Amino acid sequence: MENIIKSPTCVGSRELEAAVVQVLRSRANPQPHVVRLADEQAISELRAMRVPRQGRPLDAVIDEMVEKVYHHRAQADHPRFFAFVPGPASALSAIGDLLTAVYNPHAGNWLESSGPSCIEQQLVKWLADQLGLPESSGGLFVSGGSMANLTALVAARDQRLPAQERAKGVAYVSEQTHSSVAKGLKIIGFLPDQIRRIKCDSKFRLDVDALAAAVAEDKKGGRLPFAVIASAGTTNTGSIDPLPEIRSLCDREKLWMHVDGAYGASIAVSPLYRHLLKGIEEADSISWDAHKWLFQTYGCGMVLVRDGSLLSASFHTRPEYLRDTETDEGQVNFWDLGIELTRPARGLKLWLTLQVAGSDAMAHAIEHGFQLAQWAEEELRQHQHWEIVTSAQLAIVNFRYAPGGLSEAKIDALNKAVAQRALRDGFATVLTTELHGRTVLRICAIHPDATEDDIRETVRRLNAYAVSEARGFTQA
Ligand SMILES: Cc1ncc(COP(=O)(O)O)c(C=O)c1O
Repeated sequence: MENIIKSPTCVGSRELEAAVVQVLRSRANPQPHVVRLADEQAISELRAMRVPRQGRPLDAVIDEMVEKVYHHRAQADHPRFFAFVPGPASALSAIGDLLTAVYNPHAGNWLESSGPSCIEQQLVKWLADQLGLPESSGGLFVSGGSMANLTALVAARDQRLPAQERAKGVAYVSEQTHSSVAKGLKIIGFLPDQIRRIKCDSKFRLDVDALAAAVAEDKKGGRLPFAVIASAGTTNTGSIDPLPEIRSLCDREKLWMHVDGAYGASIAVSPLYRHLLKGIEEADSISWDAHKWLFQTYGCGMVLVRDGSLLSASFHTRPEYLRDTETDEGQVNFWDLGIELTRPARGLKLWLTLQVAGSDAMAHAIEHGFQLAQWAEEELRQHQHWEIVTSAQLAIVNFRYAPGGLSEAKIDALNKAVAQRALRDGFATVLTTELHGRTVLRICAIHPDATEDDIRETVRRLNAYAVSEARGFTQA
């Protein structure tokens, strides 16, 4: 019988190396079909697999997993994956992840992880500096934007809402705030009517006058406004809320200001574009995803707070079995700053990436995304019947094919059909979202290896699908 803990004797096998090297190389030389959905046959083979009582040779299991399991996936790191927020993970990040997985430090406390924790501390400081946060700031690496938002919302609640008055609390989001914020508020006990959705202006930014009016109305009604959640880079359009104005209102009303920068905070690394985030340096807390626009493999987000001591006010615990891990000045037990006790050292892969590539290369790679979306918009403008719904902004552009003579409902259906055609064709992945109640196509282009040709050819193909799909719609 295999010993489950001891290293298997065949580590270093050709199959393991080949699997890892092959997937790293495939990043430089991406596979054709961007999304590989398992067909019925593949799914029935997967469902027929069982957990064996007796183990099997490592090589055979790796082969099987590479061919039958990992193969069937969307390559969110493909240069022409333009849906959702792509995950164009750098090979360096994958190597960092691999190292962290094999060393497997328990990065919850200093005693077990002094080296990795020290590096994560330095990275948190570097990230805070990019955003212009003060010396007092702090934070930690978490699994992603949802956890970062949840962590910050706990701090906001604890700082601005007396425990006995939680039922009266109100938090403010916009129509474009990511769903993870409302989810986080729900998880920590707020009811739907304690989450006010404020309308946006024509550019999909939170309308500060409407926010002020809602706060005033709620106060008059005896409720307790406690937090505003602004966005720096909304998922749909890349819009950035008017952060300085929101800060002024929060100061006046003594509200916590959280900025969800899961997508957009990365532009702080670019000297060319960081000015767009003006005001973020005044936030009380910020979410930022490294597995989005800092090119990390999944499971790498950050939550930063203006006053680093506030996280521990919410999350510190001291059970008897952990008392030997007390820290000295300058040391940190990350389990005291967030939700997780046991946690991997998620920041190390970002450290490895930045050490090897340098922050200039990171900035350059981020700036490329802005250019890609501009090329997409430029190409769209050269074809008939395409409406630009939101112009290129933070690497995102929204558009729709709207030939004359079709009802709005049919135009919605037509644009959905175009996205499905693109999915079947497999050249590029472009999906839909909804803006102002209408279905639109959306490109989010942040892959540093995507070229002008990739973008222009994608738009040309979308145009060809649209022209051909539209025939069916006019006849219907
Ligand atoms: C603006 C924004 N906030 C939060 C999230 C949630 O992040 P995660 O998927 O890492 O939990 C996303 C994900 O796309 C996002 O775009």
